[in-house]
Amino acid sequence: MRHLGLTLTALALAAVTLTGCNKSASPPPAADQSASTAAPTAMSDADKAKALAALPAPYNTADLSNGESKFALCSTCHSLPAGAPNMTGPNLHGIFGRKAATAPNFAYSDVLKASGWTWDAARIDTWITDPKVALPGTKMTFAGLKDPKDRTDVIAYLMVMTGFKP
Ligand code: HEC
Repeated sequence: MRHLGLTLTALALAAVTLTGCNKSASPPPAADQSASTAAPTAMSDADKAKALAALPAPYNTADLSNGESKFALCSTCHSLPAGAPNMTGPNLHGIFGRKAATAPNFAYSDVLKASGWTWDAARIDTWITDPKVALPGTKMTFAGLKDPKDRTDVIAYLMVMTGFKP
């Protein structure tokens, strides 16, 4: 009995040692893989859902797919990924907390340059309601999003896609 007990203990120890070995041997390749799949421009739906949930209210409960489809109204003029080119409008990466009219190499209107604004959610909400009312003389020729829910959804989408830090 005692001999059997010792043998079992030895086997258990061997198993623990082997598991330990496997564990310490496997992480580097796994870590390499996750690093290479986490491309900054391609967010998975799970990443987007996680980023959405981390936003301040009311954006954390916004409808991201409606935001994405409404952003189609903006995407004719604006790119979102870091380093993407300016179009008719400036690239919007990092827009939250950014001073107005400071994207590199974009010819802004004098009125936007003189606004002294820093973009936050409330400022963007007013802006996209009707830019020419928010800032007469702006170069952004966009009729405006009149539905408050559409604006909340598109702002949440912008937060998720432009690297907003809560
Ligand atoms: C027809 C093209 C066009 C469309 C559509 C458009 N924009 Fe713009 N946007 C511009 C231009 C041009 C400017 C620069 C305005 C200026 O200099 O007065 C601008 C500026 C901005 C700025 C300020 C950028 C900065 O660097 O200060 C934000 C934010 C913005 N747009 C968001 C949006 C959103 C969100 C939408 C969709 C709801 C949208 N725009 C639709 C052309 C457009």
